[in-house]
Amino acid sequence: MTECLNDVRRRWPLPIHDYWSTPFAESLLLHLDLCPGASIFDIASGHGIPAFYLAEQVGPTGQVLAIDHSEGQIARARIIQGVQLPWLRFECLDMRALPQHLPCFERITGNLSVMFFRPHRFEVVQGLLDHLNPGGQLVLTFPSLGTFESLWRRIDQEMAVRGLLLERRRLEAYLAERPSAADARGWLDRLHLSRVVVAEYPLEVTTESGQTFLHHPLLRGGFLDDAYECFEDQRLADEVMTRVSEDVESFRPLIAQRCVLSGWKL
Ligand SMILES: C[S@@+](CC[C@H](N)C(=O)[O-])C[C@H]1O[C@@H](n2cnc3c(N)ncnc32)[C@H](O)[C@@H]1O
Repeated sequence: MTECLNDVRRRWPLPIHDYWSTPFAESLLLHLDLCPGASIFDIASGHGIPAFYLAEQVGPTGQVLAIDHSEGQIARARIIQGVQLPWLRFECLDMRALPQHLPCFERITGNLSVMFFRPHRFEVVQGLLDHLNPGGQLVLTFPSLGTFESLWRRIDQEMAVRGLLLERRRLEAYLAERPSAADARGWLDRLHLSRVVVAEYPLEVTTESGQTFLHHPLLRGGFLDDAYECFEDQRLADEVMTRVSEDVESFRPLIAQRCVLSGWKL
């Protein structure tokens, strides 16, 4: 596999300045068996990480169908693509309800996808396998349970100091709902995939304190919003989160777990 990748001059590398999607995609590629001519179904494709990379690697004898349910993301991907890599197609589809007429592929990939399988995660993985050829490989990534554990503990501590019982319960429920690497292994085992590998790769996210933390591009619009959602009163949320943001030192290093699940359909 490595040999066939090394021979290709890359015009579509993973973006070096993307400090979230790219490190997750790198861990996905560590486990993906990728060769020219392969057909790939890339779910939750966003604007094309790693769909463009995959399309370049499979080449014109291969085929990549990349799907996302956001029309905006698909439109952005198509603009980036223009008339290049014509064997790569972006479509607006919901990965939790795939149309039956969708064909089968030799590989299914999904970078940063599993967290959007809610609420019936197992059933979504099962539905994906309907579109994987026998002998084909599924490789998915997501930030698994344990991601930013030190941050959640610090937020919980701040809530506890203020006696915020309801908010603490909500935070606990949010954390308990997130899938772990062990959950992911359980799905693949139940689906009788072979050569199952579930691996975690730590990724340190660096941040300054204060407003830089509160508006950190990797944290806001995702993880920090989830913390704010534990509060009815957004003024109180601001107060708690501002206090937490002033104490970044106490929850360094801020570590995300890049979880990769890989398995082969018999
Ligand atoms: C974190 S982004 C990952 C995008 C890309 N794979 C990357 O690595 O940058 C997750 C993507 O999943 C898409 N998504 C969320 N729920 C979805 C669903 N039910 N069906 C298809 N796409 C979905 C979102 O629109 C978003 O583009």
